[in-house]
This record gives sequence, C-alpha cells and structure tokens, in this order.
Amino acid sequence: MPITTVVFDAYGTLFDVNAAAMQAAKDPAHPDLADVWPAVARDWRLKQLQYTWLRAVAGQHCDFWKVTKDGLDWALEANGVTATATRVRLLELYWKLAAYAEVPAMLQALKTQGKATAILSNGSPDMLNGAVSSAGIGDVLDVVLSVEDVGVFKPHERVYDLVGAHFGCTKDEVLFVSSNGWDAAGAAGYGFQTAWVNRVGEPVDRLYAKPHHVLSDLTTIPEFT
Ligand code: LAC
Repeated sequence: MPITTVVFDAYGTLFDVNAAAMQAAKDPAHPDLADVWPAVARDWRLKQLQYTWLRAVAGQHCDFWKVTKDGLDWALEANGVTATATRVRLLELYWKLAAYAEVPAMLQALKTQGKATAILSNGSPDMLNGAVSSAGIGDVLDVVLSVEDVGVFKPHERVYDLVGAHFGCTKDEVLFVSSNGWDAAGAAGYGFQTAWVNRVGEPVDRLYAKPHHVLSDLTTIPEFT
C-alpha cells in the first residue's frame, strides 16, 4: 500500500531535547550546568521516559508536563544542581526547543508530494503548540495529535489508533517516524510502516517488532513515500 500519511514523534525526532540544557549551559547565569549539562540532559530524558512507561503500565496517567518536571527534578538532584533559577530556565526552554535543521524543508517536500503530515506525541497539546509555533512548522503539518486525547502514553495502541481515527487511513498507509527506538518498535508492532532516526548510532531495541527503515537523520524521509 502506498504511503499517504507521514506521522512524526515530536521530542527527540523533530525537536532536539538536548537543546535546552546545552543552551542554558552557555549562559553565564547558569554556571552550575557548565560541566554537568550532558549528564543533566541524559538523565532528564531518561527519567521523563521511564515515568511515562511506568505510569502507562500502572494506569497512573498525568500530562507530559508533569513527567517533564519530575524527570528534571530527579536529574538536577542526581547531578548536584540546586539553583532554582536553573530549573526555571530549563523548563522555560523546553517550550521552545530547536527543531533539527532539516525539518522545515523535509516537511515542505512531503506537502509538495501531497502527503498528509502529523505529529503524534506524548506531549500535551499546549507544549506541542509552543514547540511547533516556535519552530515555525505549523503550516506544513495537517494536525498535531496528543496522547491527552486517550489518557495513556506510548507505546499503548490507543495512542497509535489516533492516526486512523483522525485521517481515516489504514495502518499500512502510514509511515511513522521516530528517533526513539522503542517508539519505532511499538509503531511497527502496531502495523505502521516505520522509520527509526538513529542519529547517534545506537543498537536496535530488542523488542517485539523492528523498524522497517533505519536513518541517520530526517533528510531522506520524502524518498520513502
Ligand atoms: C514524544 C516523545 C516520546 O514526543 O518523544 O512522544
């Protein structure tokens, strides 16, 4: 079945989740991040994701902003960062994360081909709207779908169901693109065509399904459709 609909994960895929800590660390107002920002960024992301998985399994849903704050608080404590101003700044930057450089042209190419385009993310609608608008990509996305509509995080199948419910398409018409190996595996197991964007050369996740394509960035996505 030809691909009609290209759906992107948001955080880590379109938006660089390390950008907040990297940017704050360059600011002389936050000297406490200078040496530890890579560890803060890594721990923040890891805890944020772990909390989504654990809350999904336990039936303890909350919105992504809460797990983002909780994950940051764990990461700051683990790395000895205590300044309230640093916490405030990192959270503020999370609302306007940089998009990867190739994102606007890649989305424009998909629209020129006549594809439907969407975000499907754990992010809450207000967080996603902030990131989309600060990256200036709202006009090349048909819809931004949030897990808040189903009250459970990825990789629950109710999340992936949002795509067919919105577009009325079949699973095999969808190319789902994620930089999160577990999300690409979850979407492949669900029945989407999948592309895993593996920017840092990680091993493939040992899960119940594997991504159909493995890419080093998003540049070639329009060629897969
Ligand atoms: C998202 C997370 C998984 O955007 O990155 O859904």
